[in-house]
Amino acid sequence: MPAATSGKGVLADPWPDRFKAFAGRFSVRTKIIGIVLMLTTILGLGITWQVRTAMSTLVESELTVRAETIALEVAVHVADPIAERDTAGVVSILDDAVASHLDSVFAAVSRADGIIIARAFTDGDGTPGATLDEVLARKADEVPGLHAVSVPIEPDAGLLTYGMTDTRLERTVDGVTLQLLLTTLLVGAIGVLAATLLTWLLTRPIVDLVRTTHKVSQGDLSARAAVAAEDEIGTLAEAFNSMVNELETSRAVVAETQQLRTRLLERLIDAQEEERKRIARELHDGVGQSLTSIMLAAGLLEQTEIPDERDEYTARIREASADTLKQVRRLGRELRPSVLDDLGLAAALDRYVAEFRLRCPEITAEVHCHLPDRLSPTIETTLYRVVQEAMTNVARHSGARTVSVLIGLRMGTVRAIVEDNGNGFDPDLKRASGESVGIHGMIERVELLGGRLDIESSDHGTTVYAEVPISVNTAAPT
Ligand SMILES: Nc1ncnc2c1ncn2[C@@H]1O[C@H](COP(=O)(O)OP(=O)(O)OP(=O)(O)O)[C@@H](O)[C@H]1O
Ligand SMILES: [Mg+2]
Repeated sequence: MPAATSGKGVLADPWPDRFKAFAGRFSVRTKIIGIVLMLTTILGLGITWQVRTAMSTLVESELTVRAETIALEVAVHVADPIAERDTAGVVSILDDAVASHLDSVFAAVSRADGIIIARAFTDGDGTPGATLDEVLARKADEVPGLHAVSVPIEPDAGLLTYGMTDTRLERTVDGVTLQLLLTTLLVGAIGVLAATLLTWLLTRPIVDLVRTTHKVSQGDLSARAAVAAEDEIGTLAEAFNSMVNELETSRAVVAETQQLRTRLLERLIDAQEEERKRIARELHDGVGQSLTSIMLAAGLLEQTEIPDERDEYTARIREASADTLKQVRRLGRELRPSVLDDLGLAAALDRYVAEFRLRCPEITAEVHCHLPDRLSPTIETTLYRVVQEAMTNVARHSGARTVSVLIGLRMGTVRAIVEDNGNGFDPDLKRASGESVGIHGMIERVELLGGRLDIESSDHGTTVYAEVPISVNTAAPT
């Protein structure tokens, strides 16, 4: 998907793409470690901040409450000495109060007009200050986190102001904050260690798988990925291994098929050469001899004037010519039955089976051809050759007493069945041996037309099934 389109096109949001491009620059290990580190840092800092804020608020409110309580208590105690104008007594009470309470800074008794009549400081501060406001202003500058509370002294004897600092408590809060930060650091370090271990565990089989795919892509089909566990990655490795197994098997099948084809081709070329030699021999020994005797008889006919001899030579020439014609016709028929072209598969098979009966009188042969119309010449030739080879095999190898040929149409396909009741054989064994050129030839022819050929065989006989789809336009060899 493009990140953005220019001109008037629709603008795609570039952010997801940019993020993907950015994230894609890092390895899985870096990404996982980065995420763990980020999460622990955010979590740790967030918790620390929350705890610190809550503790600070608590400290402040506690301190104020404490200051109020102490101030009220002291106000009660100083009421009598004030009434008796016993300033020393008042100061002594104030000194006791600031000395006996932690976090105290000062205590002061002031009149209604703000003039201080007695005071006590924890730090022994002796700086004079006439009014309460002056003392408060000065102490606010000197003491950080000062909390001052004023309560009235009954009955109408002025104000008691008590000051406390949160420095000690804030230091405790700082200590807790530091501990939390150290804990965050420790958790982060443990998280990074765990993430490193986890990514190592996760990426190790993936890296192994990638290495194996490289080997396979370079042609090493013996390479297999290690299946470390039964998790998703293990399942992926298993799936990859079975894919490579399939690939190896199909490579082997292709190589075997290729080998068989090469062998078949060699045998076919040999067979063609043999056939040519046979035809040459027949032409030489049969047709050649007949034509020689015609030539000789014609020469003799030319020289003689005797009517009986002329009749004899003429008869000899006729006989030899008829013989030659017969031989030439047979040769032609063997090369390619013209009846197949002229009258179709059914008639050609009828004639072939009739000749088969003459050649092999010990085998009862019958043919049933149920074809409403002519088929394409390619299909007719293929089926004729398949039946021819199957019946030749019956005659040569089966020892059968009967053979039947059945041809018919079935759901868009034309089907030929050749069944004998002979001794049978193991088709897989013969095919695997690579020697069965005849059977391979049948299979090749049928498969060229997109069909299939099956052979079933047992002790009671053999059946060859050939099936070819009718809508075929492939040109097959004759
Ligand atoms: N109908 C059958 N009954 C018994 N055995 C058979 C039959 N058909 C084939 N066979 C066996 O299968 C083998 C292979 O047959 P295939 O036709 O491929 O070769 P072939 O007939 O020996 O030689 P060619 O290549 O000349 O045909 C035969 O040698 C034979 O042993
Ligand atoms: Mg054969």
